[in-house]
Amino acid sequence: MTNVIHEPVESATAQFSSEALIPTHKRLPVTFTHGNGAWLWDTQGKKYLDALAGIAVNTLGHAHPALVKAVSEQAAQLIHISNNYFIPQQIRLAERLVSMSGLRQAFFVNSGAEANECAIKLARMLGHKRGISVPKILVMEKAFHGRTMGSLSATAKQSIREGFGPLLEGFERVRFDIEEIENASKDPDVVAVLLEVIQGEGGINLLPEDSLRRLRKLCDERDILLMLDEVQTGIARTGKLFAYQHANIVPDVLALAKGLGGGVPIGACLIGERAMDIFSVGSHGSTFGGNPLVCAAANAVLDVVEQERLYDNARVIGNFIAHEFQKKLVDVPGVRGVRGAGLLIGIELEQPCGSLPALALDAGLLISVTADNVVRLAPPLILSQSEAEYLVDTLVSVIRDYVTRTRS
Ligand SMILES: Cc1ncc(COP(=O)(O)O)c(C=O)c1O
Repeated sequence: MTNVIHEPVESATAQFSSEALIPTHKRLPVTFTHGNGAWLWDTQGKKYLDALAGIAVNTLGHAHPALVKAVSEQAAQLIHISNNYFIPQQIRLAERLVSMSGLRQAFFVNSGAEANECAIKLARMLGHKRGISVPKILVMEKAFHGRTMGSLSATAKQSIREGFGPLLEGFERVRFDIEEIENASKDPDVVAVLLEVIQGEGGINLLPEDSLRRLRKLCDERDILLMLDEVQTGIARTGKLFAYQHANIVPDVLALAKGLGGGVPIGACLIGERAMDIFSVGSHGSTFGGNPLVCAAANAVLDVVEQERLYDNARVIGNFIAHEFQKKLVDVPGVRGVRGAGLLIGIELEQPCGSLPALALDAGLLISVTADNVVRLAPPLILSQSEAEYLVDTLVSVIRDYVTRTRS
């Protein structure tokens, strides 16, 4: 066999296909060179408003000075050290998350799927400790929890599950509805309920606050774990640090990722009293989880979120955007409604609208479409009033054009 030396690929030039990538993603033909705040620039110098933030990831927008400083300084000191040692940045982050969330302990991972894997393993081990041979976790219709085998088994969408069987047993799927959850939880083999407070990938579907409070009570009565996946909603996106805080409850297990590192890959699984003393030394692990670099980034994100009260900004600007859409889309046929919380907003159309992100891109705006017919907005939490106005005006015009063209 001969050694083939490949030429390095220029990173800043636009290239819209490569056989070197497994084609798992449908990508739009654009390459961004840099960003600043809520704005991005492409290789042609064109400017875009980022109303997606890497799908609810860039909490502070792009190139935020506090995050850039924290990451650069930490990189110059110590990027990685194994979890065989104590990591001060990790301890600080754990203590802050614990105090912000009302939970007790943290385990750090690299992604949302892994945060949910940790939750699933906790629930299973709790079940086995209780003598249940196949512990059951209740999961919801339209749920999305990730692509690893455990989190995929908890995910509802058939098209992304197909071809990967056998999936994990022990998940029972119910409607995203408190009565159904109550009924299903009567099974003595049920050890946990896993759900998103707002289903992001499933189409921005909200569970009413009162249902969350009933769910908390139910899990207490049955002594089962209430496990919330706030990978998409956590870290101030919905107007509170965590979406469950709108209902004044505290879960037993909380999965976080996306917005936590502001773009640096970090996730966390937080646990409360009921989930403590399940794992012990050797039960679970992660090489990269919670290394100094990612924890420095997450600490910097939390500093800015707290100092600038970005949860308030998410609520105020989010309410403004939702209200403006309701007003300005009211006469557009085929728009079913606007829903969400804070800066996680969905606009449901009657028809599939998978081509809208490309049309919005042409107009200088980044958005996504989820559940086939729901436009999803998850802009950075630093979004200003004038940027919100630009977002609304641009998107209303894109939707209006699209609907007029496709319905006539
Ligand atoms: C609610 C929720 N959970 C889990 C995940 C998976 O996160 P990751 O892609 O970081 O594994 C996502 C990703 O979209 C999500 O929205």
